[in-house]
Amino acid sequence: MLNWREDYKKKLTTAEKAVKLIKSGDKVVLSHAVSEPLALIDAMVANADAYRDVEVSTMVTLGKGEYTKPEYKDCFKFNGWFLSACTRGCVAEKRGDFTPVFFHEVPHYIRKDIFHVDVCLAMVSPPDEHGYCNLGVSADYSVQAIRSAKTAIAQINDQVPVTYGDTFVHISEFDAFVEHSQPLPDLKLPHIGDVELTIGKYCASLVPDGATLQLGIGAIPDAVLQSLKDKKNLGIHSEMISDGVVDLYEAGVIDNSQKSINKGKMIVTFLMGTKRLYDFAHKNPVLEMHTVDYVNSPIVIAQNSNMVCINSALSVDFMGQIVSDTIGDMQFSGVGGQVDFMRGAAMSLDQKGKGIIAMPSVTVKKDGTMISKITGCIQQGAAVTTSRQDADYVVTEYGIAELKGKTLRQRAKNLIAIAHPQFRDELKALYTKKFGDTI
Ligand code: COA
Repeated sequence: MLNWREDYKKKLTTAEKAVKLIKSGDKVVLSHAVSEPLALIDAMVANADAYRDVEVSTMVTLGKGEYTKPEYKDCFKFNGWFLSACTRGCVAEKRGDFTPVFFHEVPHYIRKDIFHVDVCLAMVSPPDEHGYCNLGVSADYSVQAIRSAKTAIAQINDQVPVTYGDTFVHISEFDAFVEHSQPLPDLKLPHIGDVELTIGKYCASLVPDGATLQLGIGAIPDAVLQSLKDKKNLGIHSEMISDGVVDLYEAGVIDNSQKSINKGKMIVTFLMGTKRLYDFAHKNPVLEMHTVDYVNSPIVIAQNSNMVCINSALSVDFMGQIVSDTIGDMQFSGVGGQVDFMRGAAMSLDQKGKGIIAMPSVTVKKDGTMISKITGCIQQGAAVTTSRQDADYVVTEYGIAELKGKTLRQRAKNLIAIAHPQFRDELKALYTKKFGDTI
């Protein structure tokens, strides 16, 4: 066996040469979110003329997503497992595809070859003294994609933090390395207004001391975190975390002391925030990054006591059907881990789990039009993300609607009570049409 240093040197190449390992018809999987290997992706796009029908799959895209542009339609076919701002357009314009999948199942699909991986492009830290690179900010499906790929190519980035958990991959598991230093995306902290703060306070009222939390990204999860400053002994078992978690950890509110599994540790599958978060994560034993088939497995989530999950939605109908990833028949994002956590919390072994969907009561379009996010029925073409059986709590700036175990009639009443006042009469009329009685 080659000494790992010799092996590394042998596999070291340029981005231009590395992407020549991709062949027409190949299925290419990219590591995602802040872990996108931008130098490799740029080189792949620059080499577009050499390809026909290269399928590109990924989850969250923060980069340019140039492989989705119309001019590359014969070179690249995009097949997203989640859509983001720069990948949504090509699916809407019918050049790309979307594959619905629970996030926790992505590594299983890769292992079972339901998602075939010819080439994996990943971003990792430089190897340590034992020859192990570290995925740092994204364990999720990347570890499995590297291991299942016929060809695994790594962008070695010395700005990737080294995190503990299932994040180490030996250099013998890669076929080519490209050294390219690049700062990780430093995401803007979301603006938290009065609406988000009020929602945050309602959500916080559902979080007991000692709870283990899962939070999505955006203004609402950050507002919830700000409202938790007076809680004690909170823990984290979350698909992802952002900067707000660091504040609560440093304030001593998050100490992971009451967790029933992985006690004393925050368990996460990817990170998305600012440099402060990445610096916090670097070689910090309090944080463990595990693959998404562990972190998002409903069976694992269910083993956490007092598990409280807080996610968002685009709309909720009278029956409690939660639409989080489509607007009408437009695919907007993906299920991600929403159902993984809603189900895991519902299955929780101590019977104390809670699944919260928190959203503003309305969305305001650029022309000032207000749209109620609580509706009589889902829009034509929309997909239900979380089913009415799985729905638990819905929170808006007007309060908390409890749905679990409630009749259709009671669900509608509870939801109308937290709708924006401007839409309540309209919604009450729809209620009467549907159920006969009046509110
Ligand atoms: N009808 C029409 N448009 C709507 C709408 C509705 N009911 N609700 C929102 N929109 C529009 C908004 O106006 C906004 O449009 P813009 O981009 O033109 O400004 C856009 O949809 C996004 O809405 P916003 O409220 O800003 O979304 P968000 O960034 O807070 O994300 C979800 C909300 C639901 C899309 C996001 O949380 C998601 O994808 N969830 C599913 C995955 C998940 O929960 N994973 C687990 C956590 S990691």
